[in-house]
Amino acid sequence: MKLWGGRFTKEENQLVHNFNESLSFDQRLYRQDIEGSIAHVTMLARQGIVTEEDREAIVNGLSGILADVEACKLEFSPEYEDIHSFVEANLIERIGEAGKRLHTGRSRNDQVALDMKLYCRDEIGELDRLLKALLETLLGIMEENLDTYMPGFTHLQKAQPITLAHHMGAYFEMFSRDRERLRSIRERMNTCPLGSGALAGTTYPLDRAYSASLLGFSGPSLNSMDSVADRDYVIELLSALSILSMHLSRFSEEIIIWNSNEYQFVELDDGYSTGSSIMPQKKNPDIAELVRGKTGRVYGALMGLLTTMKGLPLAYNKDMQEDKELTFDAIDTVKSSLALFTGMVASMVFRKDVMEASAKKGFTNATDAADYLVSRGVPFRDAHGIVGQLVLRCLEKGIGLDELPLDEFRQISPVFDSDIYEAVSMKACVEKRLTVGAPGQEAMKQAIESYKKRLEEE
Ligand code: ARG
Repeated sequence: MKLWGGRFTKEENQLVHNFNESLSFDQRLYRQDIEGSIAHVTMLARQGIVTEEDREAIVNGLSGILADVEACKLEFSPEYEDIHSFVEANLIERIGEAGKRLHTGRSRNDQVALDMKLYCRDEIGELDRLLKALLETLLGIMEENLDTYMPGFTHLQKAQPITLAHHMGAYFEMFSRDRERLRSIRERMNTCPLGSGALAGTTYPLDRAYSASLLGFSGPSLNSMDSVADRDYVIELLSALSILSMHLSRFSEEIIIWNSNEYQFVELDDGYSTGSSIMPQKKNPDIAELVRGKTGRVYGALMGLLTTMKGLPLAYNKDMQEDKELTFDAIDTVKSSLALFTGMVASMVFRKDVMEASAKKGFTNATDAADYLVSRGVPFRDAHGIVGQLVLRCLEKGIGLDELPLDEFRQISPVFDSDIYEAVSMKACVEKRLTVGAPGQEAMKQAIESYKKRLEEE
């Protein structure tokens, strides 16, 4: 059935139909479309625009469609242009005349804007739950690894010792910001476009505030042209998903490095690794690589929609139908990446001994050796030079600073005493770092306390 047959004399060409249709992908909006229609007709009846009997017949018909779609008893037959026409035609088939009254005071333009908002809102809730699960996993690792020492890197060169808890804490912060971003988008987009009509509102006495409240919006949107032309919230969502994907990608990259033969900081669970068809010794980090790789499609969706929207005159234009596949794909991608990533992190084994040995071998305690000299009156610039010489000597011998005999320390500077070994131990190097946000245990415990509160409050 066509919604717009009256003015047309020729049949629609099949190729045109195929090019124009969106049912093949917007069928996933069926729940939101029906939810919106129920709110709309409830409001129409309350305003006396349709009768109580018609409202009841329409609501029952729509509920039947919903139940049948969910029970796979009703197929989305490809003759319909989009989910809106599909539902309306089906309703008319079921309940006859009354079904034809549903679209009073409404256009597909405000209808699709509403459906997309409802969909994005629902999905933000899902994403929030997935992010929370990841944050809880990270918090668990942090609590268990307050004294698991490892090298911290700058330029991918070993820099200063940190703990695994501290490293995980950095990602905890990133994913917390992702959650906040999504929540603020949800709040900003939460105005209801329903009742904006095609672009200029309607002559029926709609109660837009009422239908907005039925659908859980903070209120009706205030400009009907903007309401049907606005896809900012989709772009904001894709932008937040891009940043979130970038975080997942950075973390994946670290896991790939840590899982490499050269590092061996972690061992991925067999369930999250795959083998090679030719090299029997291989256990590849495919899941981490795919999460990293999929970032490209999420960025692509953002760029795609920004480009589609650029230059569109007010108000609705069919170009905007292009928002759907991009958005659905980006959301699906991020949801599956998040779920898989959390499982991978929760099941991977951290090789604490390898991490600590690596921190020692990489002279991550060199700054602390210099600080030791400074605390004994040596100017920092001189201390820097002295420790540089010590590092050179250790490199020649293939040992760490804590393995160099005391007399060799003293040959380079007589200021060194036997307490230097304690001063350059990983424990001392980390535990002295107690500024807010630093890896020292007491500082970390305070951070963990606020993270826990943050997770509980919600
Ligand atoms: N399938 C369309 C979309 O996704 C629905 C709105 C159609 N409106 C119209 N005036 N053709 O944007």
